[in-house]
Amino acid sequence: VASHAAGGSLKVNGGAVGPRANPFDVSAPYSAVLRLALGLAILPGLGLGLLMVVVFGLRLPWAAPWPQLIQAHGQVQTLGFTVLFVIAVGLQLFPRFLSAPLLHTRPATIGALLVAGAVLSRLVGQPLSEGAARAGLLGLAAIGLPAGVLVAASVFHGLSRRSVQPAHGPSATWRRFVAVGGLALGAALLLSLWTGLLLAVGAPVVPQSLDEALIHLELAGFATALIFGVASRVFGRFLLLQTHPNLDRHLPRLAGLWAMGLALVAGGWLVDAAWGVWPRLIGALIELGTLVVWLWWVGLYQTPTRASGTPHVTVPTRRWIRLAFAFLVFSLAFSAGLFAREALLGQPTLVTELSAARHALAQGFLLPLMTAMAARLLPVYSADVLRHPQRLELALDLLFVGALLRVGAEALGGYAGVAGPLVSLGGAVSVTGFTLFAGGLWSSLGRLPGRS
Ligand code: HEM
Repeated sequence: VASHAAGGSLKVNGGAVGPRANPFDVSAPYSAVLRLALGLAILPGLGLGLLMVVVFGLRLPWAAPWPQLIQAHGQVQTLGFTVLFVIAVGLQLFPRFLSAPLLHTRPATIGALLVAGAVLSRLVGQPLSEGAARAGLLGLAAIGLPAGVLVAASVFHGLSRRSVQPAHGPSATWRRFVAVGGLALGAALLLSLWTGLLLAVGAPVVPQSLDEALIHLELAGFATALIFGVASRVFGRFLLLQTHPNLDRHLPRLAGLWAMGLALVAGGWLVDAAWGVWPRLIGALIELGTLVVWLWWVGLYQTPTRASGTPHVTVPTRRWIRLAFAFLVFSLAFSAGLFAREALLGQPTLVTELSAARHALAQGFLLPLMTAMAARLLPVYSADVLRHPQRLELALDLLFVGALLRVGAEALGGYAGVAGPLVSLGGAVSVTGFTLFAGGLWSSLGRLPGRS
């Protein structure tokens, strides 16, 4: 009844019904969304970040609407680049993890275009002086951003239900962390809508407490919880770890604790009162405790179960992931220390200290982790890096050295004295490392199966 015609099309009862499609082939939307993510990261995201870090660190006399640009950079990076990168990687990974193909992938590209348009409108609109153009651009950004994320993420709707994998039981508990990441993203989108409307009706910048709550939900909430989910699923076998036999059973409790920590920290910022530092402190301690227990049970820092049959793959990956998680531990411990100092000694937290804590997470944890996971899991690119391992090693070394310089100097001295130029140097080194990685990944997208 069915036979293959020349050119790979399928014939049913003599009539051609189109090309034989691999239901797991997501090359077209994957490359479109990933290109948008990398483009946003390099130009308006890290490019602007680098400009700011050089101007602030070298104390250059350049007057610009910096507070507005700082906030726009933050949203381009978190809801633009990070969300789109996760959606692109999710297009490849989630259907395979759940053994269920995606039914419609076109919304991923449409949603990603909306997200990119929204964060760029915010970047252009926020620094403008009050008027119809500013209100229009910021109104578009406020509504377009959550709309775009929802449209893009809708491609995953129903995937879990259609999965042939068990939805309950120990092998499914990693999904709890993914659910916490999804909830945090939902809360961040609501806050983003609210703060975006505040800007559209004339506020020059988002008030600091609202802004901090939003950033916490984006970075520690969405991005980190999702990484916990994927890592709980793959790290044990992938890195040959002595994972605790009860890890799967305890994951729902850990995910619940992480959600509680997030709610307390974000809520503590939202109350915008002196006592708000207490929930922030308790929340940060819960997050830190959850991370330490998770690391212990996953066995990331313990001796591996056995020597790897492919040490050139496993050994460096384990080293990068260990280093990246060390930055996450530092970020949470440093934040808890800052909140404790404020709560117990009444010493206010400096903006440069908050920046050091968030960039330990964003620059020291997220960027290297995204790079290392992409290098091992993404099609074509993972084969490219095996042929040129030294390029990947260089990219990751630059990311780590840059993060160490920037975060260390900013935490100890802000932009004052010798710390300023070190912060600038750290930013420049990290951006160089990420650009090297992004260039390699970008070039792999033109060579995906089914694309020329
Ligand atoms: C690697 C190079 C990077 C450089 C040079 C850089 C630079 C900067 C600078 C100078 C600021 C202003 C200081 C502050 O208040 O924090 C800033 C803020 C921020 N950055 Fe970055 N950044 C980098 C990477 C990232 C990444 C990867 C993310 C997220 C994924 C990110 C997210 C943020 C956020 C959320 C803010 C705060 C914005 C606000 O106050 O609303 N940055 N960055």
